[in-house]
Amino acid sequence: MAKPRIVCVAGTRPDAIKSAPVVLELKKWADVDTVLLTTGQHREMLDQALAAFGLVADHDLSIMQHGQTLCDVTSRSLSGIDAFLAETGADILMAQGDTTTTFAAGLAAFYRKIPFCHIEAGLRTDSIWNPFPEEFNRRAVSLFATHHYAPTRESAEALAREGHAEGVFVTGNTGIDAVLAMANNRQQDWFPEHAGRIVLLTTHRRENWGEPQLRIARAARRIVQTFHDVLLVVPMHRNPDVRERLRSVLQGCERAALIEPPDYPDFVTLMRRSDLILTDSGGVQEEAPAFGKPVLVLRETTERPEGVTAGVAELVGSDEERIFEKASQLLRDESDYRRMSQAVSPYGDGRASARIRYLALRMLGIDSREEQMWTS
Ligand code: UD1
Ligand code: UDP
Repeated sequence: MAKPRIVCVAGTRPDAIKSAPVVLELKKWADVDTVLLTTGQHREMLDQALAAFGLVADHDLSIMQHGQTLCDVTSRSLSGIDAFLAETGADILMAQGDTTTTFAAGLAAFYRKIPFCHIEAGLRTDSIWNPFPEEFNRRAVSLFATHHYAPTRESAEALAREGHAEGVFVTGNTGIDAVLAMANNRQQDWFPEHAGRIVLLTTHRRENWGEPQLRIARAARRIVQTFHDVLLVVPMHRNPDVRERLRSVLQGCERAALIEPPDYPDFVTLMRRSDLILTDSGGVQEEAPAFGKPVLVLRETTERPEGVTAGVAELVGSDEERIFEKASQLLRDESDYRRMSQAVSPYGDGRASARIRYLALRMLGIDSREEQMWTS
């Protein structure tokens, strides 16, 4: 008899990083056929992130085109995933978060009436337009998901408020499993010649494309120009427009290092070497508090309020003055800095993927429970 099949779908860097721990957990179980299907929404960044976990796709749709629109990504992913399902079949489809790949995977599962397991379910802002289009993607897949793996109690409550009573489980965020796994890995010695502080900046989100990103870059330039012991490090997302904007302000600026996106293990080491993190990334917002690094969130709103509530993250948006002022305060005032650098982990305990593996296999009638799984 054929084994039941779980198809895990990933397309972007965060999809790879947050799905990898679950794929690795599932692949340990011989009674199930676990298939990693990638859309290739991101090409280099997806492959780079999977490689950090020793994973390669079992099947890749190679959909990425430079300048791709949301519609391109949705339609090419949807038809590719559907064709794959027509040929291979699946008992469960699984994907994480809020990317267009995840939306397309959910929709493909819905059309074929295949149970969909949603990793990192229930994060919400109060506006369908923000983050765009991610808030829509995440809410949409909640409509038809069979299992909702909520990282925190808050996200489970958000699902309950929308009427999702069945199949909601608080598992923790698999991103914390990933970052903890990397933390014990290879240790890149970042900027050994620089004895001073490091401010790390990442920005790529659509809300900040254009003028907001220029304001963010200008604020970062002012920070290095004001604090002479600070090295600004900017790993640049592969999006050519984002890179061009960052270069237009920061290229040639003293003590600003514009670097290629480090692979995940090296990026984790870089976060740990940093003193302050400025980011509009979702994943970085979750990871930095695990290492006690204060985060200034370059967004007006966040679907990850837990860090703000814990006092280790602050929303500063894309206003040049506001970013500069808050960063300066933290770089000047030791007690303020200490308050924001408590190592906390509001997003998970590193066991999320084991819980998800157990729940997904149980749906298929396979009992794979381990002791201690639910104790924290
Ligand atoms: C996507 C996600 C966003 C996530 C981000 C992570 C959606 C709607 N958005 O947005 O939630 O925060 O990924 O990085 O799914 N590119 C490359 N090589 C790569 C990756 C990207 O060249 O490896 C370039 C391409 O020119 C592409 C552009 O970046 O057109 C934008 O990529 P896309 O996936 O369309 O959007 P993201 O902004 O990355
Ligand atoms: N990351 C990485 N290299 C980088 C920047 C980020 O490996 O140069 C990792 C980061 O640690 C996190 C994930 O990529 O796990 C976040 O991805 P991204 O910021 O692209 O997307 P988001 O989380 O905003 O959707």
